[in-house]
Amino acid sequence: MSLEKYEIKIKELLGKIEHPLYQKNLMELGMFSSLEQIDEKFHLLLKTSNPDRKIQIEIEARIRKSFANVPSFVGKVKIKFEIDESLKEKEAVNRRLPEVGKIIAIASGKGGVGKSTVAANLAVSLVQEGKKVGLLDADIYGPSLGSMFGVSGKLELSGDGKNSIYPHIAHGVKMVSFSFLLGKSQAVVWRGPMLGKAIEQFLFQVVWGELDYLIFDLPPGTGDVQLSMAQLIQVDGGVIVTTPQNVALQDARRASQMFLNLKVPILGVIENMSHFVCPSCGTSSHIFSKNGGKTLASDINVPFLGSIPLQEEIMESGEKGLPFVLDQKSSPTAKVCREICQLIASASQKSQEAQRSS
Ligand SMILES: Nc1ncnc2c1ncn2[C@@H]1O[C@H](COP(=O)(O)OP(=O)(O)OP(=O)(O)O)[C@@H](O)[C@H]1O
Ligand SMILES: [Mg+2]
Repeated sequence: MSLEKYEIKIKELLGKIEHPLYQKNLMELGMFSSLEQIDEKFHLLLKTSNPDRKIQIEIEARIRKSFANVPSFVGKVKIKFEIDESLKEKEAVNRRLPEVGKIIAIASGKGGVGKSTVAANLAVSLVQEGKKVGLLDADIYGPSLGSMFGVSGKLELSGDGKNSIYPHIAHGVKMVSFSFLLGKSQAVVWRGPMLGKAIEQFLFQVVWGELDYLIFDLPPGTGDVQLSMAQLIQVDGGVIVTTPQNVALQDARRASQMFLNLKVPILGVIENMSHFVCPSCGTSSHIFSKNGGKTLASDINVPFLGSIPLQEEIMESGEKGLPFVLDQKSSPTAKVCREICQLIASASQKSQEAQRSS
């Protein structure tokens, strides 16, 4: 086969390989640079804006898999990458949802520290400010946002070709959750690729319409869901929720490292259940220790967004399906929550501007 024919065939195959981070094939992203023949070998040079070797290795593996079906390619093609920053623009455009303003992810290392509570109240606070908000409950292991908003019921595929999912709408928030796909007490054993597919559907098959904010409520830890999210879409910022004690903080540090690895800017740290004010005598006690969130924020050099007390009404509002900032609109704690939300909103704006200009 001549070099030209090789090049045509290679481009054809690259045009069928999807990039692991973007929903585009390698040719659409402009990754082909050159093909050279040196002795018996063909040297394929690819452009990439991403110096991360792990991604390059994954791309190479996809190419090798595709070339394995072409006998004249087997063992003959060497693949190399060169960094080309100009690809960045194309990639970034491809990683956004065209009608969605900002994407914010709520994470923690440890479970049960209040991510979903924060996500629910953030969403409702933004709606109270007149924003259009979507909430994606990506917690496969314990999807709880449905109950926190008092909504249930399966989401059905609809539209032409049954490809669209219409979100539930509760308290003005459009929401999807794994709990809307499963029976009430159905247990889930989903492996990485299936989880990735589900997150992809939640992002791209849900008819979100125009949104100012899409909020991801992540499962605890640093697993497949987090990775899929970051691979599928440009996240404008991550928020870390922690309780003040050391065991939670250690895990929160891992969550912050995860955001750094995934190149998601961290908007700040929220300390939840920071103190308990006795309803009868008014004494404040630091049940889970003191100032852990602040220390974490300063250690990882991100803003401290605020402290939310441990308060029975917060738990109760979750139980009755009415997020706290709606249920107890005029309480001092609701005010604190709204202030935290404003900080998150403005930090996400700055973060988006910074990402766009970089
Ligand atoms: N500040 C608070 N005061 C009182 N109860 C709270 C507070 N924050 C959260 N809770 C309650 O604690 C429980 C756990 O909170 P939540 O579900 O928000 O945590 P999570 O981090 O999302 O948990 P998971 O890791 O399981 O997803 C819930 O019952 C919630 O109502
Ligand atoms: Mg949760």
